[in-house]
Amino acid sequence: MKRKEKIIVTSLKGGVGKSTVSASVAAAMAEKGMKVLLVDLDFRSRSLELMTGTCDRIIFNLYDYMADRSDAERTLISIPVKEGAIMFCPAPDEDVLGPENGPVYENIPDALKKLTEESGADAVVCDSGAESFVPRLLAKEFATMAIVVSGQSRTAIRAAEITAQKLAAVRDGLDVRLVINDFDVSLANLGVRAGLLEMIDECSVRCVGVYPHDDRLPAAQDKGVLLSEGITSVAARNTAARLLGDSVPLFRGLDRLRSKIRL
Ligand SMILES: Nc1ncnc2c1ncn2[C@@H]1O[C@H](COP(=O)(O)OP(=O)(O)OP(=O)(O)O)[C@@H](O)[C@H]1O
Ligand SMILES: [Mg+2]
Repeated sequence: MKRKEKIIVTSLKGGVGKSTVSASVAAAMAEKGMKVLLVDLDFRSRSLELMTGTCDRIIFNLYDYMADRSDAERTLISIPVKEGAIMFCPAPDEDVLGPENGPVYENIPDALKKLTEESGADAVVCDSGAESFVPRLLAKEFATMAIVVSGQSRTAIRAAEITAQKLAAVRDGLDVRLVINDFDVSLANLGVRAGLLEMIDECSVRCVGVYPHDDRLPAAQDKGVLLSEGITSVAARNTAARLLGDSVPLFRGLDRLRSKIRL
């Protein structure tokens, strides 16, 4: 039997696509009929509840679960996707967790182990904020894998490199992979922005997915709609397949992008 993947999606840099990759990879896995737990661990921004259109349905969150004020069934929100559903765990505000209220940040890995068990999840995808405390905690005590997300800018690539190094130092043998997001092939070909090989080389992490720039994405996310068609979905399906150990080409179904890439 394949191992149960518990993935932390991270980067020390903000706005590179951590939440986009988390939600779309979770959706791609759920589409295959897997029971996927998507956990919002970005306690500052809590973007996933907006991107998934679940704000109005939230009653309980991870804090309530940790404080025994709700169980898995009442905490998790079902988000339908083609042929399946994601189980979404909303985040509390960053100030709620703390000794004065009971559960503390250090309890998160144990809480996630219990939530995984109780929900019967086959895979767990955790979105993080642009910080290192929670990702490192999970890398140490919960995750089987870390996805470091990078955009094409120098600052994003540097942040990805540092993030990967820090995570690898936390636990020997942690699978750390790179997802290149918002990739603009024209800018790479013009030499204005980094190319794929350059990015993979600089981050020194095995690349597991490339998401092209997608004009449709920001508006869909603002409406709280998870895209089920188009280049982001295709990229997410390829990434999910590779994360689950299937051997699929990096650009399967992305022929226009592949035809333009100069390595
Ligand atoms: N592949 C893409 N194509 C076009 N726009 C994108 C792409 N990926 C992300 N974006 C846009 O970039 C913005 C940042 O994305 P996202 O919120 O996923 O990043 P993040 O790393 O989670 O940010 P934060 O650090 O604030 O949590 C969003 O407006 C999103 O719509
Ligand atoms: Mg985010």
